[in-house]
Amino acid sequence: MVIVVAKVIVVYESKYGNTKPVAETITEGMSKSEGIETVIKELTDVDPNKITDYDAILIGSPNHYGGPTKGIKEFIERLGKLHLEGKLYAVFDTYLGKKSDYFFERAVKKMEKTINEKVPALKQIASGLSIKVQGMKGPIMEGELPKCKEFGKKIAIQLKA
Ligand SMILES: Cc1cc2nc3c(=O)[nH]c(=O)nc-3n(C[C@H](O)[C@H](O)[C@H](O)COP(=O)(O)O)c2cc1C
Repeated sequence: MVIVVAKVIVVYESKYGNTKPVAETITEGMSKSEGIETVIKELTDVDPNKITDYDAILIGSPNHYGGPTKGIKEFIERLGKLHLEGKLYAVFDTYLGKKSDYFFERAVKKMEKTINEKVPALKQIASGLSIKVQGMKGPIMEGELPKCKEFGKKIAIQLKA
């Protein structure tokens, strides 16, 4: 029998389908670890009131105009109305990184700032992950997906610590 140590929900938005495999690979990285139960959901399928059922929440967004999508911003603000004391979070984004790294971690940092301000009950489990895509519609750049798996593994280790 496997004893569940932590339940994690991964919530993401993905306009062109690149943030989705990032979310899936992070989830795969976590679920390899015994005792970590994962659920992955697109933002439109999430009932914010059910977030309290989980020990940790991971939030992912494509970079839109230097920050997370409007939907993810609104979702984070709604989390502020819930009782999330003792729960953990981490965030991830995808950004256009072919020409420069100007947008590296921009959406991640904005999400972290908003969560720290508006949802202070949530404690950060790991520094956010920022993944490069080649063009507006992708694809994800080579060498980026393995980082997602490592990120998932790292979070699982933290949750079990
Ligand atoms: C409306 C819009 C605004 C965007 N603004 C930025 C931006 O400011 N910086 C950036 O790096 N990428 C920007 N992008 C590119 C997205 O980051 C890229 O399309 C996304 O990472 C792909 O993820 P998805 O397939 O999950 O939607 C923008 C994309 C859209 C649709």
